Amino acid sequence: MFTTTITPNQQGIPLDLFAAIEDLKKELNAVILAHYYQDPDIQDIADFIGDSLQLARAAANTNADVIVFAGVHFMAETAKILNPDKLVLLPDLDAGCSLADSCPPEEFAAFKAAHPNHLVVSYINCSAEIKAMSDIICTSSNAVKIVEQIPKDQPIIFAPDRNLGRYVMEQTGRDLVLWQGSCIVHETFSEKKIVQLKITHPEAEAIAHPECETSVLRHASFIGSTAALLNYCQKSPSQEFIVATEPGIIHQMQKLAPHKHFIPAPPENNCNCNECPFMRLNTLEKLYLAMKNRSPEITMSEDIRVAALRPIQRMLEMSV
Ligand code: 13P
Ligand code: SF4
Repeated sequence: MFTTTITPNQQGIPLDLFAAIEDLKKELNAVILAHYYQDPDIQDIADFIGDSLQLARAAANTNADVIVFAGVHFMAETAKILNPDKLVLLPDLDAGCSLADSCPPEEFAAFKAAHPNHLVVSYINCSAEIKAMSDIICTSSNAVKIVEQIPKDQPIIFAPDRNLGRYVMEQTGRDLVLWQGSCIVHETFSEKKIVQLKITHPEAEAIAHPECETSVLRHASFIGSTAALLNYCQKSPSQEFIVATEPGIIHQMQKLAPHKHFIPAPPENNCNCNECPFMRLNTLEKLYLAMKNRSPEITMSEDIRVAALRPIQRMLEMSV
């Protein structure tokens, strides 16, 4: 039973969305999982906030009947692959990912066929179809650890992110066959502007996500997933950071280290292209409506789901 008594506006949307969402959470026995790149309001109402690996683990372990995924499509799809019997909602079905889109299944199947005997390690930022063609999934927080566990004489295809792939090659000394995909957000940062910021803020530490290009990574004193970056800036004695990843993460950085100063790494152009346009499609209002209408829901064919589950489970086993 919908229990809220909160006053709606003329469109029937409650004025206090926070209270209305809390009511719906109880009514549906729902859990809200949110990525660090979501709007601050969404992060604040979420039951769990994390990076891609933490969110996949949270989805694998939840007892809720409904998973409301405040993130992008491939993340909600991963939650559905792990929970075929649960209702998985994504506030905006158009919340995709340029990196996932840079790896179309038919072209990837041909690429794979051209490299027989290669093991396929795919970054979780890909579609269920690509996962179904993969041997092991990884995220930015466990990619190095996973590749290190594969026998040295085993050739590997790494898809779809060429930047993360190149970073893994440097860290492991392995030669990987890279699919040439990339993230529009992490390729937008300006090396020149980061260097200028380091000159005007000599005490600031630059930290970066491994989806960034080498020209940005070489200026970073720490490289890691969103969760690793968050953890690092709390522990580091530095008081100021230049953050080369989507600036949504700064909400948590500021909450967990309120006395420190976080500067978003600037994009090449005078635009806000360092904000992920897909992540930002989700709003508190759409989240409320998704819960109220039990839609839009993530669905997929059972064949693809079963094939995509195996490499995700291998990842979870290999990154305990
Ligand atoms: P992580 O959550 O693994 O840090 O990845 C960032 C990202 O781009 C998600 O789309
Ligand atoms: Fe995809 Fe990049 Fe957005 Fe992450 S930040 S969801 S990789 S487009």
